[in-house]
This record gives sequence, C-alpha cells and structure tokens, in this order.
Amino acid sequence: MQIVHYPHPILRYRSAAVRRVDAELRTIVAEMFELMYEDKGVGLAANQVNLPLRLFVANPAGDRDEGEELVFINPVISRPRGSLESEEGCLSLPGIYADVTRPASVHVHAYDLDGNEIDDDVDGFLARIVQHETDHLSGTMFFDRLPEAARLSVEPALQDSDIVFRQRRTEGGIPDDAQLQSDWAEWIARYGQPASDPIA
Ligand code: CO
Repeated sequence: MQIVHYPHPILRYRSAAVRRVDAELRTIVAEMFELMYEDKGVGLAANQVNLPLRLFVANPAGDRDEGEELVFINPVISRPRGSLESEEGCLSLPGIYADVTRPASVHVHAYDLDGNEIDDDVDGFLARIVQHETDHLSGTMFFDRLPEAARLSVEPALQDSDIVFRQRRTEGGIPDDAQLQSDWAEWIARYGQPASDPIA
C-alpha cells in the first residue's frame, strides 16, 4: 500500500459507501495510519491509498504516541457554521500549501470500525481535517476550493505533479485506467456499495 499522488484518477473518484468491515479492512486501516504518520499527516482518505471506499483516518496530533486515532466510515457533513481561512496541505500533493476558507464548525455523522455511530459537532483543527478528508471521498481536492488568484499560484506545482505522474505511468509504476477500474470494482464488490455517479 502506498499513498497516490495527484493527478492519480482515484483522487477524482466518488468513493463507494462501506457496507461491511472485516479483519482485512481493519488491517488496511491500521496501515493507513502508519502511512499517514510516516508522511507527517493528520488525516488520510481511503482513496489516497487507491481504495475506492468512503472512509478516512485522522489523528489531529499527527503522532502515533499522542492524540486519538479516529476512523470515520461513510461520513456525512451538515450544519456548516462560520467561516475560517487556514493553511492546508495534502499527502497526495507533497510540498504544496495554500490558505483554504471553510466553515469553522460542522456536524459530522459517521460510523467507527466497530459500527458505533459518530454524531458530533466538530470545530477547530478537527473540523478542518474532517472537511478536507470528506472532500477527498467526493473527488474534491483542497485546491478546488481556492479563489482564482490562489488557484493560479499553485498551478505550476500542479503541472509539475502532472509531469511526474505521467512519467511514472510511462515507466509502468502506475496501472492504466482499465486496470485501475478493474481493481476498484473488486474492492467495491467486497466492501462497498457503488456510488450512483462514480465520477466526481
Ligand atoms: Co488530502
């Protein structure tokens, strides 16, 4: 398992709802936490490891020995309140940061790995993470939320990332679209419920 970088196609995919959790999925989630810590992240969505399922992991402390490890399955965000600008980055776009304006607090409904319901109002850094990661599951990247001028300022970096991606694909490091679609279909057959409109 590895973190995929923009513009890997799964980053624009609308992930499938999770309908069951088994030992293998728990192992995958544990590996997602490890990859997140290795890359000094605070959140990681399943599609960032090429898994087309609606779940993400988070630990606002960004350290396996601190904070709390949170798993959000099938998250739904509602009740946005306020507005806050804050710098964001993304493990699928290393080295690129920009100020993103989002609601300051939101309500999130989800389930944890044991099927317990999460029904919380979140604010502060956790609200930021929950919104960034839930966006991933709908195929939205943080730079999609930038105003035009800021979007243009990250454009050269996005183009660089695009060149690296194409090069890696040419060298055989990344499967072609047909192979990816077939891999995703297998995961969805095992754990998911297909989205009615899979392309964001
Ligand atoms: Co991200």
